[in-house]
Amino acid sequence: MNLKINTKYPSVIDLRLKAQKKIPKFAFEYLDGGCNEDVNLHRNTSELRDVQLKPNYLKNHSGASLKTKLFGIEYDAPFGIAPVGLQGLMWPNSPEILAKAAFNHNIPFILSTVTTTSIERTSELTEGKAWFQLYHPTEDRLRDDIIKRAEAAHCPVLVILCDVPTFGFRPRDIRNGLAMPPKMSVKNILQILGKPHWALETLKHGQPSFETLKPYMPKGLDLRQLGKFMDQTFSGRLNEEKIKPIRDMWKGKLVLKGVASEHDTEEAIRLGLDGIIVSNHGGRQLDAGQSTIKPLKTIAQKYGDKIEVMMDSGLRSGPDVARTLASGAKFTFLGRSFMYGVSALGKQGGDHTISLLKTELQQVMEQLNCEKTEDFPNFLINQ
Ligand SMILES: Cc1cc2nc3c(=O)[nH]c(=O)nc-3n(C[C@H](O)[C@H](O)[C@H](O)COP(=O)(O)O)c2cc1C
Repeated sequence: MNLKINTKYPSVIDLRLKAQKKIPKFAFEYLDGGCNEDVNLHRNTSELRDVQLKPNYLKNHSGASLKTKLFGIEYDAPFGIAPVGLQGLMWPNSPEILAKAAFNHNIPFILSTVTTTSIERTSELTEGKAWFQLYHPTEDRLRDDIIKRAEAAHCPVLVILCDVPTFGFRPRDIRNGLAMPPKMSVKNILQILGKPHWALETLKHGQPSFETLKPYMPKGLDLRQLGKFMDQTFSGRLNEEKIKPIRDMWKGKLVLKGVASEHDTEEAIRLGLDGIIVSNHGGRQLDAGQSTIKPLKTIAQKYGDKIEVMMDSGLRSGPDVARTLASGAKFTFLGRSFMYGVSALGKQGGDHTISLLKTELQQVMEQLNCEKTEDFPNFLINQ
């Protein structure tokens, strides 16, 4: 196997452990945690791993290709980088590092409204290929302004969220008094002093801030004030009334992220969306909810010919991507895995994590005798 990766970290598990050692506890816990008691977080990974595949060894094999077409674009792999907020808190410049790595590997990068680089900078880095995830603004004027910026930046896909009617209840972040920029409490200063590489890089790049939202927000908000600003500026609960004007205005592809039910899939189809991401925000919103792999199978079977069905939450490896595609998703996204990669390896982290996942997935395809990513469902063992 010709590995183009750092051989000290041949799995996302290795990257996670390294990330934990390298970044302050408040940043790692923000990245790593789910919500409430982390039940949904663990359900995502454990139930996904119950999916099993069967190989066909004694058939001719003419090579496996990871290339996957989505919304008329051919990507080099059937996975992309999910939107993650506050990325610069975990590693300075991480959204830029990931956007560039995604561009070099020809996979989609989704920029979050609340991350630490702007729509315009991301577009520059990716030659207009990055997708944009919009938190729904309360004011029409702000909504229209952000959408126009995404359009001017040539963004091909706009992602809206249905799984954030509330702020997730995350005990670690509450305990840590998580803030942007990080609060200089004694506890946090001690945590930062213990992570000199992170501290130096953060000093070098300056304090992270919400670059896309900068023109609209007051400076230096802590978690409580940020919560208030977010509550006032964004209204998380989506409905037909809010989706319709976006559909009318946005000429590119429109995707609904956070779908966990047949009902919401039917609504997405009725309202003219082009795709859904079956997702529970990586287990960060509803601890009593289902894993994403559970509803995926039915949703993909019933609606996969009417709307593009994608999935995220719980994927940590090439075999996990294979399991998800075999269960009916057309495309997959990963959130934490890429952030573990960049937090562990800095500038090399994006390239390393994408190469690792590609290598793992290629191995699964060759082992199964699966030549095209759309053929994965043929290898599913129905339990
Ligand atoms: C630290 C963190 C921040 C996130 N911020 C956002 C966000 O701003 N917008 C969004 O749509 N999803 C956000 N998500 C959810 C991810 O887009 C994605 O759904 C999730 O990470 C997938 O699960 P995984 O981490 O198990 O791969 C966030 C996830 C994490 C871990």
